[in-house]
Amino acid sequence: MAIRGIVKYPDLTLKQACLPVTAVTGETVRLIRDMVDTMYAAPGVGLAAIQVGVPQRIIVVDIDVEQPGKNLLKLINPEIRRAEGEVTWEEGCLSVVDFTAEVRRAARVEVVGLDDREREVKVDAEGLLSVALQHEIDHLDGKLFIDRISRLKRNLYTRKLKKMLRTGKPLRENPRLMI
Ligand code: NI
Repeated sequence: MAIRGIVKYPDLTLKQACLPVTAVTGETVRLIRDMVDTMYAAPGVGLAAIQVGVPQRIIVVDIDVEQPGKNLLKLINPEIRRAEGEVTWEEGCLSVVDFTAEVRRAARVEVVGLDDREREVKVDAEGLLSVALQHEIDHLDGKLFIDRISRLKRNLYTRKLKKMLRTGKPLRENPRLMI
């Protein structure tokens, strides 16, 4: 088990577009294993490779906090093939500490990618899983959820952040929201 450090906003590492994986090597498998360990330890329900400083198109997602591992998704070069509907979800991010905000995304997505044995994976997702997949794929394009909120909500963040700094108390965090 190896837990890696999570890169935090405003580190510019998080802004870079990640490269597709061209070959799944032992190193890739180790990276994915470490990403899974890091996600569970955080705790969070999703993690992108760039969040541990590796600019490759790899994500892990497990929204089932009751039975961790049972529905774990490990996706290499994930792509959204289809998106429909609209949903607003309160999101947080392991790389954006002490902040959550409502973000509007597609309600349902079909995501395709490869697993760590280079088998094709297709996921039809809705609810939190759909949100988590879109959130993680955003990370691969250098995008954070705070890039998707209104100026009004960003201002709210600033106020919360100032309050946090003033009181020295971190805001409440809900592990279910950390993706
Ligand atoms: Ni995130």
